[in-house]
Amino acid sequence: MSTRVLFVCLGNICRSPLGEGIFRAAVLRRGVADHFEIDSAGTGDWHVGEPPDPRSIAIASRHGIDIKAQRARQVRRDDFERFDLILAMDRANERDLRALCPPEHQPRIRRLREYDPVAGHDVPDPWFGTHGFDLVFAMIERCCSRLLAELHPDEPR
Ligand code: 4NP
Repeated sequence: MSTRVLFVCLGNICRSPLGEGIFRAAVLRRGVADHFEIDSAGTGDWHVGEPPDPRSIAIASRHGIDIKAQRARQVRRDDFERFDLILAMDRANERDLRALCPPEHQPRIRRLREYDPVAGHDVPDPWFGTHGFDLVFAMIERCCSRLLAELHPDEPR
């Protein structure tokens, strides 16, 4: 049985592609990739079919992670059935997800930063360049590391 994890942001071109890529790299590194299905999506549809933002591709690449082949898609209703854990990058994403999600699956929705050992609510939207992609990368990496440690407590950290 695999755990299905969906990372969600607004456009699915900046933050959630990093979540998908970083978490996939982490499970591969620990040899537990066959325990997981990992995907990402956006609450908005503006960028559907596009590759990740070049700034996300670049920061991932600097950390040895290739996210170029990802393509943006919008959250669908059946995502709430399919994914065990739906991780919102910020409170606006969480609110939008909760508005779409049937009542019985609401517990599947969490904010990624609930897993951050450093306190905070949101992975800030780096689209307009006010928050650096390096900051966003580091934040998502911390959260993914804690998430994997929680889902696989026996794995070495
Ligand atoms: P993301 O960033 O939600 O992290 O993918 C954004 C990408 C595009 C837009 C906003 C945020 N946009 O307004 O098009």
